Amino acid sequence: MRDTVHHPLFARFYARMSVTMDAKGGVAAYRRELLAGLSGRVIEVGAGNGLNFAHYPRAVSEVVAIEPERRLRQLAATAGMRAEVPVDVVPGVAEALPVKSEAFDAAVASLVLCTVRDLPRALAELRRVLRPGGELRFFEHGLAEGRVMATAQRALDRTVWPLLFGGCHTARDPLAAITAAGFEVVTRRRIRIPETGPGAPTSPCVLGVARRAD
Ligand SMILES: C[S@@+](CC[C@H](N)C(=O)[O-])C[C@H]1O[C@@H](n2cnc3c(N)ncnc32)[C@H](O)[C@@H]1O
Repeated sequence: MRDTVHHPLFARFYARMSVTMDAKGGVAAYRRELLAGLSGRVIEVGAGNGLNFAHYPRAVSEVVAIEPERRLRQLAATAGMRAEVPVDVVPGVAEALPVKSEAFDAAVASLVLCTVRDLPRALAELRRVLRPGGELRFFEHGLAEGRVMATAQRALDRTVWPLLFGGCHTARDPLAAITAAGFEVVTRRRIRIPETGPGAPTSPCVLGVARRAD
């Protein structure tokens, strides 16, 4: 059966590039910050090659990691076996999570809201599976605050970027989408990756915590 998300070239590229960015681009520290203080049952959507797994605190009783791309899912399964908390890697997409409603204490979205096909639907699903008051931890790149970069991002999204980078979009506004989906943003921190040097369309990032509003 064909996978719903099939990006073999991007998967190979991301598997290498993400490890370098974690080690040399400071991204591992953001992953640690993203997950600090979590406990209980956690769902992570679009887990990729599983680079978050090593950073889950021991108070997390289980991570259900959803990943639609076959090669990345295999890498995630290997990373899950090395993690200090139990990780179950499961095929699926964020827009139709294969789990029960209100079953999780927290949800994690890192560098994935740019790529899901239907952002409002993916966030509605995250809201559905969180218990009332549950947290959405997010670490996402998005629309630049500066006009020049924002214009370039929109042009890229209409042309080559999604084709080259596994369906990624650079001009989405994750904070606005999270709020529109019925989450209350509790904390957020704007960061730039890389911190110094020339900016890329994926440089403007936001890292924070939102809570299911009811
Ligand atoms: C840029 S990678 C980020 C991976 C990982 N979250 C990280 O922080 O390194 C985007 C991931 O989203 C996955 N993805 C693509 N479409 C998706 C969808 N509709 N639902 C869930 N994940 C999806 C891709 O297969 C890929 O693993």
